[in-house]
Amino acid sequence: MRKIDSINEVVGLVSEIKAQGKTIGLVPTMGALHIGHLSLIEKARKENDIIICSVFVNPIQFNNQEDLDKYPRDIEKDCLLLEDAGCDYVFSPSAEEVYAEKPTETFNFGALETVMEGKMRPGHFNGVATIVSRLFNWINPTRAYFGEKDFQQLAIIKDMVRQLNSPVEIVPCPIVRESDGLAMSSRNMRLSEEKRAIASKINSILKKSVSMKENISLSQIKSFVKNEFSLLKDFELEYFELVDDATLQPVNQKGENGVVGCVAVWLGGVRLIDVIRYY
Ligand code: PAF
Repeated sequence: MRKIDSINEVVGLVSEIKAQGKTIGLVPTMGALHIGHLSLIEKARKENDIIICSVFVNPIQFNNQEDLDKYPRDIEKDCLLLEDAGCDYVFSPSAEEVYAEKPTETFNFGALETVMEGKMRPGHFNGVATIVSRLFNWINPTRAYFGEKDFQQLAIIKDMVRQLNSPVEIVPCPIVRESDGLAMSSRNMRLSEEKRAIASKINSILKKSVSMKENISLSQIKSFVKNEFSLLKDFELEYFELVDDATLQPVNQKGENGVVGCVAVWLGGVRLIDVIRYY
């Protein structure tokens, strides 16, 4: 595996790969890799000739300086994991190079970004779309892989590709969970031992609510989940929404599309998100 740090170098490499008629699978990450990321690499490996994983902690998608400062970084360990997983190239540019000039890209995702993460983290999705669109320009991947845990991010990126008429195929990948049900996330490593031991409550509350769906209404499910979190003193619920899986708009009853539940919770100063499907 080769590590590439400069944009010019990755652009040059990609033109060589493309000249050989090979397909490229891109796995965009912010590093601090875990088994969830490696499952994306594994899927990409099966579907493409060459795998490029980008590792870049994108400062402009953080709307909280402390969250950016505390975001875990360990590029040496990431490279070892990627090499083992069969990745061909890791692309890890510096923020100074990526944002040598103040970024000016402005995206409009309409109602997709006025709920949940978009509502709670102003500017977040513009920052995500800016870096992902730049990665797509530099790397011109055949396919790009994103986890379904960031359900709204996935919808935004699909919309971005549609708006830009980009030929990149977006491949959604299922959430990978710890054995106790906690969704894998780079943020989990910031939990204390004590908080980590109870973090699985997030998924168990969601699972319990799914098991009740035949007997109670969606608004009762919403109240149930909110109430369960209010009973746990360590957890501070930021939002729980039941949304249409295509439009991401809140729903009170099942329509033509599927329904997913999206949650953001604070636990011991760490913000965790999870997603579960009801229909
Ligand atoms: O999901 C992430 O890790 C990031 O939001 C992404 C897609 C790599 C963009 O910085």
